[in-house]
Amino acid sequence: MIDLRSDTVTKPTPAMRRAMAEAEVGDDVYGEDPTVNRLQERAAELFEKEAALFVPTGSMGNQIAVKLHTRPGTEVIIEERGHIYNFEMAAMSAVSGTVARSVRSADGSGILTWEEIEGALHAGGPYYVAPTGLIALENSHNLAGGSLLSRERTEELCERAHALKLPVHLDGARIFNAATALKESVADLARPADSVMFCFSKGLGAPVGSMLLGERAFIEEARAWRKLLGGGMRQVGVLAAAALVALEETPPRLFEDHANARRLAEGLAELPGLSIDPAKVATNIVLFDVTGTELTANEICARLQERGVLASGFGSSIRMVTHYDVSREEIETTLQELNSILGKSEARSQQSE
Ligand SMILES: Cc1ncc(COP(=O)(O)O)c(C=O)c1O
Repeated sequence: MIDLRSDTVTKPTPAMRRAMAEAEVGDDVYGEDPTVNRLQERAAELFEKEAALFVPTGSMGNQIAVKLHTRPGTEVIIEERGHIYNFEMAAMSAVSGTVARSVRSADGSGILTWEEIEGALHAGGPYYVAPTGLIALENSHNLAGGSLLSRERTEELCERAHALKLPVHLDGARIFNAATALKESVADLARPADSVMFCFSKGLGAPVGSMLLGERAFIEEARAWRKLLGGGMRQVGVLAAAALVALEETPPRLFEDHANARRLAEGLAELPGLSIDPAKVATNIVLFDVTGTELTANEICARLQERGVLASGFGSSIRMVTHYDVSREEIETTLQELNSILGKSEARSQQSE
């Protein structure tokens, strides 16, 4: 199978498996797992943040951040397609008692301007309006097609938010992809935000785990919330060992995934009925619209699956994500399979005209 559903589907590399087998471990709930401690220190150093906490999932990292930055009865400003709002089981209300104040980026990029955020702010009063508690950003923006939040925009949004005493959390599940595409360091992209979460289990290719980073006191509190949410793990150095390898091994090759995604987008743009602007594909996520075809996104995905290609349908769009387990050759095969699916459906529609 050529699995383009997500970059979460990668299998650990031989170096990761070796590191897992040989990992030195201890009980991490006691803070005694040397490999986890090393991973946390390395992440804090890379991101130039005071402290870091290894968490089982990106969702848990994000939701602990929402919990610590907000009070119940406040709002979280987030782009309409943001992951924290759409794909984390309404945890921001279940766990933190907050609601999302979602804002659609007018240019469709998923990247908000300060003016768009400002329009959604509730500073205080009138008394029946919930105050804004947090601004949540996402880089790269998954459901907007892997779009990029520049360092300059991050700095501007955080500066303006901080001037109003509002905290900013950055969902950087794929911040290494963003850093590669923007030619910036992850530290520079994350610096202005009060907290950042990134995933080892996405583009970096490790099997499990994410990291939450911020000030030391924030991370100490986050440790208690991780336990409360059932995320205290024991000899989890076996997972941290793979994450340590991912941190060193994968970032230098992410540009290959981006080149594959761009090639895929260019090929898709030439197929009948598909709509995509390849110039907007900046990272490893390719999102294209299928309304110009005879078929629904789910029908196309089902036919692709019969031919050995997995992709995800979202409404009238299909998402394909490149990663280290997909080669350039497999991108070409995917395009050929799609071409034959769409060619056949077009031929049928011409016959019936
Ligand atoms: C942008 C973004 N944030 C957070 C997450 C959550 O990560 P997890 O699946 O590890 O909970 C994802 C997962 O796909 C994501 O794409």
